[in-house]
Amino acid sequence: MLRAMAEAEVGDDQREGDPTTRKLEATAAELLGMDGGLYVPSGTMANLIAVLVHTRDRRGLVLEASSHMATVEAQGIATLTQARTYPVRGAFGVMASDDVQAAFDRAAADGISVGLFCVENTHNSAGGTLLTESEMKRLISLGRDRGAAVHVDGARIFNASVALGTPAARLVEGADSAMFCISKGLGAPVGSVLCGRAYFVAAAKQARMWCGGAMRQSGVIAAAGIVGLKDYPERFVTDHANARRLAEGLSKLPLFEIDMRSVQTNMVYVRVANPEFDPTQFERYCYERGIRVRANKERFRFVLHHQISSKDVDKTVEVIEQFTRSCLPPL
Ligand SMILES: Cc1ncc(COP(=O)(O)O)c(C=O)c1O
Repeated sequence: MLRAMAEAEVGDDQREGDPTTRKLEATAAELLGMDGGLYVPSGTMANLIAVLVHTRDRRGLVLEASSHMATVEAQGIATLTQARTYPVRGAFGVMASDDVQAAFDRAAADGISVGLFCVENTHNSAGGTLLTESEMKRLISLGRDRGAAVHVDGARIFNASVALGTPAARLVEGADSAMFCISKGLGAPVGSVLCGRAYFVAAAKQARMWCGGAMRQSGVIAAAGIVGLKDYPERFVTDHANARRLAEGLSKLPLFEIDMRSVQTNMVYVRVANPEFDPTQFERYCYERGIRVRANKERFRFVLHHQISSKDVDKTVEVIEQFTRSCLPPL
């Protein structure tokens, strides 16, 4: 990946174009079955551009209540787009049709026309959970049948594709736009690709400019994404198996409660079961033993990637078991 970055052919992406960035965009669009793609600096910006474009005329935005866009990105989206949000509570990230309909009805009762319906796959805060091809089809049709554009926040869509054995294009089929991050499991240092239908890509290009996301010799970083897309998805099988192994190991300890149903891809969310748990002490204890984790007193996650082996997983369970025995009074 580093060699590809060092050797990348570059140009000015705001002027004559950057050939490596164009190649990443074309590769991404082909993998998602979309007309085109746009390389942007972050997943947050990709989602923001999608909202800006799709809610220009109709201000309503329907999305899952614990999705990344409805939580971490909510303030940015509200401030910068003025879209009015209608959240729908899902189960493991999956929204029921009646609940989606109810959100559209709430918007209509407020006199708001819904321009955009968003679906997240995998669903981060539900545990990295999967929405199957048939669930995606149902949700995408639901949005479109109600006259809204549909955007897929597919930050980890290739994790979903590998776990389900379904090509990514089939998971986003019928959507107007979809994005994924090259900077997560795909191993690249920077960026996301926002793909969509032709009408969307043209408008998104302009919105990317407004957001300051049009770059210059971006091929240097785009090159990493091309390598990531080619080489990394096959490693997700191992990441997912390691997440399961970690969840099984940690669930034997009295410190955490884990809903095994949510362990579907490369994440393990734990709920803290001991009120004496001190997250800062836990983070330090782990860090000093080579494990990086950001904890809190209630619920947090472990994320697996290609640099973490099954041996590392076993060591992690061992270290946390030692922590539980030496640092915490028994319940
Ligand atoms: C589902 C989802 N969407 C979007 C993002 C935002 O990506 P970025 O950190 O590149 O802005 C994240 C980040 O964790 C995410 O989990």
